[in-house]
Amino acid sequence: MNTPIIVCRNLKKTYGNRQRKNEVIHGISLELEKGTFYSMIGKSGSGKTTLLYLLSGLLKADGGEILLEGKNLEQMTEAELERIRRKKIGFVFQDYQLLPELTVRENILLPQILDGQDLDEEWSSQILEKLGLTSLADRFPDELSGGEQQRTAIGRAIVNRPDILFADEPTGNLDNKTSEEVLDFLLSVHREYRPAILLVTHDLDLARSAEVVLHIADGRLLEPGKAGGEQ
Ligand SMILES: Nc1ncnc2c1ncn2[C@@H]1O[C@H](COP(=O)(O)OP(=O)(O)O)[C@@H](O)[C@H]1O
Ligand SMILES: [Mg+2]
Repeated sequence: MNTPIIVCRNLKKTYGNRQRKNEVIHGISLELEKGTFYSMIGKSGSGKTTLLYLLSGLLKADGGEILLEGKNLEQMTEAELERIRRKKIGFVFQDYQLLPELTVRENILLPQILDGQDLDEEWSSQILEKLGLTSLADRFPDELSGGEQQRTAIGRAIVNRPDILFADEPTGNLDNKTSEEVLDFLLSVHREYRPAILLVTHDLDLARSAEVVLHIADGRLLEPGKAGGEQ
């Protein structure tokens, strides 16, 4: 067994206030190994985005614990967590979250700009090329289609070669051909430097390209082999 990059135990998350509580993650335990490509499928509202936010430290859990390379996220200061997120974790948001005043190239390089690192222009040019964004590099997000914005968000998530990449329905707004290109890009990134990847998708074909397929329903992970409807 490989070393885990992320372990979570009995993770719980409730939204709402004292009057109206809605528990959406009901005690999930999970180990993600370094270098493994996972996919996760589940219906809309089953808790996929919430689980990704919890695992990447963007949202605080109400119960349970999360270890990133053995270190408990709870015990980190905000500054430490932010630094680790920038260095080790890549996140493709379902709604992109690009900065409107930055170009495509600048959005992709943003994690390096924020980190005060030397900018890796060669790698970012490769990313632009592989994502079919070279000719759009100097455009602003509001001059792009949804699919182009989504590809920019993928580029930004990968620019620091994170140890783990979370991608929340990164092909949700893409046509079949572009979806395949995005999947090929993720597979090539995976081959190139072996990050762990957790790809959330509705698309069963896409999900099957991963080494391990996780199923989530109503805030619980299904045991392998017990997934409803799976062959
Ligand atoms: N910020 C929030 N406040 C209250 N409820 C939320 C919030 N975000 C998500 N939910 C609810 O939590 C459940 C899981 O949502 P989500 O994690 O977005 O699921 P998925 O990504 O699988 O569609 C849904 O019922 C959703 O309405
Ligand atoms: Mg979602």
